[in-house]
Amino acid sequence: MVTTVASRVESLSSSGIHTIPKEYIRPQEELTSIGDVFEEEKNIAGPQVPTIDLRDINSEDKQVRENCHQELNKAATDWGVMHLVNHGISFDLIDRVREAGKAFFELPIEEKEKHANDQASGKIQGYGSKLANNASGQLEWEDYFFHLVYPEDKRDLSIWPKTPSDYTEATSEYARQLRSLATKILSVLSIGLGLDEGRLEKEVGGIEELLLQMKINYYPKCPQPELALGVEAHTDVSALTFILHNMVPGLQLFYKGKWVTAKCVPNSIIMHIGDTIEILSNGKYKSILHRGLVNKEKVRISWAVFCEPPKEKIILKPLPETVSETEPPLFPPRTFSQHIEHKLFRKSQDALLSKEG
Ligand SMILES: [Fe+2]
Repeated sequence: MVTTVASRVESLSSSGIHTIPKEYIRPQEELTSIGDVFEEEKNIAGPQVPTIDLRDINSEDKQVRENCHQELNKAATDWGVMHLVNHGISFDLIDRVREAGKAFFELPIEEKEKHANDQASGKIQGYGSKLANNASGQLEWEDYFFHLVYPEDKRDLSIWPKTPSDYTEATSEYARQLRSLATKILSVLSIGLGLDEGRLEKEVGGIEELLLQMKINYYPKCPQPELALGVEAHTDVSALTFILHNMVPGLQLFYKGKWVTAKCVPNSIIMHIGDTIEILSNGKYKSILHRGLVNKEKVRISWAVFCEPPKEKIILKPLPETVSETEPPLFPPRTFSQHIEHKLFRKSQDALLSKEG
């Protein structure tokens, strides 16, 4: 058995190398679509990720409220990703979350290693980097910190950073507020499918079982950003994903056959519809393919919170109300963990085929 020791991308980046190791170089066919992210961000031609204003999500005025719901549902149907503004989470709290995560990543690597995860033994929470898990040995240009943040009784606070001192309090409060926001969003998405407002919330596990997992992604400066990706193209398996970042561009969405670079919208939270909601809605709401670019000038940090159903307890399949004679189910019944397995299997099959081909 070959054991792989994860090396930190941060160490590579700060070592002063001018060329990146081959494991980080994307396949030839992918390189043609990777451009300079700052140039891409300036591009205002063509489709743009929608911005949804949530100010009126609970308005007393029915018409005003319904207009807001319609906008959100349209973005979820058309794009499956959006910038949320007036989301109700204070800028002060968001700044504290970002300061705390940034301060953790500014600790010396030896300090961060004390929080290292151990994927081989199933300890997935903590500080980590991607391990090469397929024949191609392909790696991504990022280190991360991953941990469960909600429900509170399922947290393992022993692995949370103690430095900076505000980390636990700021991150916990942010998780609580995101949990309420997730309920509101799920209720609007339910209404959009003609369901009772509490239905999707219930279908993904409710307050007890829906898990919020935070992944802080740290993308060091990359000497050859045109050859690498911070995160390779994927769709999120979650129900919903909420993302903050440090205003350095990087996220790209594959929309109508083209990569679209997300603009940095001040005071917004990016929200993805994940596979789980795509499956439950029988494809009415989209889980969009996306990836992360890196650059040579600025460190990018993003804070993704994945809202996920329990791994085994729930069978995910299109809700009966979303299926008809003309709209047959697009997804077979699978638990969340079977869905993840299925994606990994398909990916390894694709890798094998491309090697043979
Ligand atoms: Fe993602």
